[in-house]
Amino acid sequence: MGRGVVGLLQRESASLAATGRTLQLTRVASRTPRPEVDLGGAAFSTDLADLTAADDVDVVVEVIGGEEDAKTLFAAAIAANKHVVTANKALIALHGNELMRDARRAGIFVGIEAAVAGGIPIINALTRGLPANRIEWLAGIINGTSNYILTAMSEGGQDFATALREAQRLGYAEPDPTFDVEGIDAAHKLAILAGLAFGTPFDFASVHVEGIADVDAEDVGYARELGYRIKPLGIARRTARGVEARVHPCLTPESDLIAKVDGVMNAVQVRGDAVGSTLYVGPGAGAGPTASAVVADLVELARGGADSCAVFPIEGDWESSPIGEVSCAHYLNVPAEDQPGVFADVAQTLGRHGISIEGVIQRAEAVRGARGSEWVPIVILTDVVAELDAERAVADIEKLAGVTGRVRRIRVANLENSDGE
Ligand SMILES: NC(=O)c1ccc[n+]([C@@H]2O[C@H](COP(=O)([O-])OP(=O)(O)OC[C@H]3O[C@@H](n4cnc5c(N)ncnc54)[C@H](OP(=O)(O)O)[C@@H]3O)[C@@H](O)[C@H]2O)c1
Repeated sequence: MGRGVVGLLQRESASLAATGRTLQLTRVASRTPRPEVDLGGAAFSTDLADLTAADDVDVVVEVIGGEEDAKTLFAAAIAANKHVVTANKALIALHGNELMRDARRAGIFVGIEAAVAGGIPIINALTRGLPANRIEWLAGIINGTSNYILTAMSEGGQDFATALREAQRLGYAEPDPTFDVEGIDAAHKLAILAGLAFGTPFDFASVHVEGIADVDAEDVGYARELGYRIKPLGIARRTARGVEARVHPCLTPESDLIAKVDGVMNAVQVRGDAVGSTLYVGPGAGAGPTASAVVADLVELARGGADSCAVFPIEGDWESSPIGEVSCAHYLNVPAEDQPGVFADVAQTLGRHGISIEGVIQRAEAVRGARGSEWVPIVILTDVVAELDAERAVADIEKLAGVTGRVRRIRVANLENSDGE
């Protein structure tokens, strides 16, 4: 990313000067020297502290990633009265409240456009485009790796492991894909978006996080038959009690625009009370898109100066709504013995928990497991049901005599409904 920023600043320096101020790259610091990169005469150091100590640095662009060193650099920049632009979502999600508070007190500009959804100007949309709205909910595909994998499973019929290997081969997934496929990266971004949308502090700890590794190719196929795509969504919603924020795979109606956002692309849908529903789509990663966002912050700073730091009102009271309070429809995949009466038992169990069935797929042919076991999947789409009722019903279904294993459960997102589900 650093190279992307250096390249874009060099390529566009003439047009960026039209902002009234020249953006000049004076210094670069990184752990490993890369003599092959043209820094256009900027001084290079392997010591990050050289940036904050230098008089010819007005703004520090942090694109090193990680937590500790980035936090130290950020704090040192504030102490030295230098503005900060960062692409580091983990840093902002985990330490943003204190860093922003200190920056605001010091009159320091903080730009975080590149930290969420790469090239999509979603921070700008929330803070500058929609402030007249009371945001009701937002939902986003904010991890391109997970979206690529689920798209490959849906369109290429691949299983999760094959799609992940392919994503790694293409450079869309890290050698250690944990942060992406377990939903942590998306949860960092959702914590930031929720804070900005609802005017609350960044609260990563309250984001409910589930990854996509448990989604089976079979589920992707059944979802399609039922008229849905499975998407890795981050959903944040204003509730009666406070803010609900969750990251998990979701069945998304194929007619929803966000369901059509495939591959590594990102999208964020935001519903405001005045504007209604708006959708922002674009590349969520890569040197060019992310550098575009970093340089946008630099240009904003050049145009507006430090006053812009006032756009993050992140103090005040709020309460988080736990996942147990969520209500939504559910997709259930029940592995059943191939004998009469099992479906009736499953339906009765759901009924006992007050859950109605909206749709069913029952196959005549059995599925064969790795160790020679056989079962017939019963696929059920429920109506909207409270999370705890769904959990209890699934636990009871798994105890039924004719049910042979774990029930796979995926929540359904009906984003266009006014309450977000
Ligand atoms: N890549 C994207 O598409 C993208 C998109 C949005 C946001 N971001 C964010 O941008 C940041 C950077 O991502 P990246 O993909 O560009 O990472 P990267 O390829 O690993 O580059 C990080 C660079 O920073 C250097 N570095 C790391 N820690 C350092 C330290 N303590 N002191 C000095 N230099 C250090 C690394 O040096 P070495 O070469 O010695 O390791 C490397 O050159 C992360 O916060 C990431 O979340 C990235």
